[in-house]
Amino acid sequence: MERWKGRVALVTGASAGIGAAVCKVLVEAGMNVVGAARGVEKIEILANSLHDAKGTLTAVKCDVTKEEDIYNLFREIKGKFGGVDICVNNAGISYDKTLLDGSVAEWRNMTDVNIIAPCICSKLSIESMRERGIDDGHIINVNSTSGHRVSGFAEVHFYAGTKYALTAITEGLRQEMRELKSHIRISKISPGFVETEFFTRMFSSNEEKAQEIYKSRMFLQPEDIANSVLHIISSPPHVEINDILVRPTEQAS
Ligand SMILES: NC(=O)c1ccc[n+]([C@@H]2O[C@H](COP(=O)([O-])OP(=O)(O)OC[C@H]3O[C@@H](n4cnc5c(N)ncnc54)[C@H](OP(=O)(O)O)[C@@H]3O)[C@@H](O)[C@H]2O)c1
Repeated sequence: MERWKGRVALVTGASAGIGAAVCKVLVEAGMNVVGAARGVEKIEILANSLHDAKGTLTAVKCDVTKEEDIYNLFREIKGKFGGVDICVNNAGISYDKTLLDGSVAEWRNMTDVNIIAPCICSKLSIESMRERGIDDGHIINVNSTSGHRVSGFAEVHFYAGTKYALTAITEGLRQEMRELKSHIRISKISPGFVETEFFTRMFSSNEEKAQEIYKSRMFLQPEDIANSVLHIISSPPHVEINDILVRPTEQAS
């Protein structure tokens, strides 16, 4: 991890769950982390709690469904820190609707957050790395077991579609980097159930259902996924970890 000290990581969806945990471990490892989300106040609270850590956390307000917000985010990073060395595309959402019940607005929103935003952030991060001659940068997409199999949980069927797309996009980007003879690495992490705000947000109109899910089984903790990020970025230059598929021990499918 020594080589990452003082360097810059962007983490989207930094205001809660996995994103907040990833920010914490990267700041503790000495990185200058830019955490982006709409709920910027929560990132500022986290930043204050990390005041004595080796690195820093800077909160930037960004709605990743808004292209201009993402461009502003990258302009701010360039102005303050020079550019991005690691990009963790973590922001992601699901609604609680089956394909038969879902609305076009919800499908568009999931597409924007779960697919389009990681594409824009990856493209701009790689541009930032290449214009500064950075050849050891890293893109990490937070995918899901839903990017690997279609579960019987009908409410996540469209979400699974977005995560399957992210599976294809992550591998496509990896191949494009090899084509360029670049050593920038492309990875993803595919978690099963993690105890975050994900299901509370998904079932925002039915809090009981979210609580039922949280009580139904053993969950991974956000720190487990943050540790996978550390594992990926601390691997030696000749090792590109393409995916870490991780489930809670009690998760069957
Ligand atoms: N929890 C699980 O069981 C699980 C399992 C597999 C994969 N994942 C994946 O893990 C990632 C993180 O999810 P989580 O579990 O940590 O969920 P979470 O606790 O609900 O956090 C979601 C994060 O995404 C951000 N976000 C949502 N919409 C956004 C938007 N329009 N613009 C900017 N940021 C936005 C939220 O920030 P604001 O609302 O403040 O903007 C929040 O910081 C997601 O990609 C999810 O698909 C989660």
